[in-house]
Amino acid sequence: MAEIVIVPDDQVAGELAAEAILRRLIDEPEPVLGLATGSTPTSTYHAMVRRAAGQDWLKNLKAFALDEYVGLPDGHPESYAEVLRREFIEPMGLVPAQVMLPPGGLDGLSTAAAQYEAAIADAGGIDVQILGIGTDGHIGFNEPGSSLASRTRVKTLAESTRRDNARFFSSLDEVPVHCITQGLGTVLDSRHLILLAFGAHKADAIAAAVEGPVSASLPASVVQLHPHVTVLVDEPAAAKFKHGDYYRFAYANKFEWQRL
Ligand code: PGA
Repeated sequence: MAEIVIVPDDQVAGELAAEAILRRLIDEPEPVLGLATGSTPTSTYHAMVRRAAGQDWLKNLKAFALDEYVGLPDGHPESYAEVLRREFIEPMGLVPAQVMLPPGGLDGLSTAAAQYEAAIADAGGIDVQILGIGTDGHIGFNEPGSSLASRTRVKTLAESTRRDNARFFSSLDEVPVHCITQGLGTVLDSRHLILLAFGAHKADAIAAAVEGPVSASLPASVVQLHPHVTVLVDEPAAAKFKHGDYYRFAYANKFEWQRL
């Protein structure tokens, strides 16, 4: 079962996630981190920057983003390449070549996904993958109906996702229709998954993901098939758990050596 940790707010979650990520990566000769975008990972990135920006070992770090919009012009401020540059790459003191994203340009799009998969494999796979969850239960941009064995590919965004993300654009029409995303099978290959969910609007999706049936209709439920998953949620996002009391009890009674 996933380890589910209910915390007071996203700041506490960010500190716990950053601590677990850094502890895992710092001793790897070739550390590989999986990055998410959206609002959810912001507190984790801030905590990582506070704890580790500019440290020497980061020179060996490679990172792979989960997904990217298709068809935004280079340098568009809401492209995930730009979001990660602003929120993670520059504040951490990394050079851009250390961080790869699935390329969202229209040129070469038909072969981009397979090349991205090969790049992750060449790097030795992802040690820790950060994940958010969409209100429709997506992880990455794997919308409902995504194969649980899917690999990186071009997908069409769900209307609900485009509406959720319209807040980052000046209108709904500007939100791209297509994306390129790691598949659910790709995500399962990462060695540790850290799934974050904050706010009451995520409560149904996160409860279904960890307590509901494993189903392509709720893509995040695929994490139930992974042997090492940490789920960090704030109180509003935890409101719909059936077994919330048990998760709190288990976390409060961990042995010292049982860290995240
Ligand atoms: P959010 O999006 O972090 O902006 O809420 C999460 C997601 O859609 O995966």
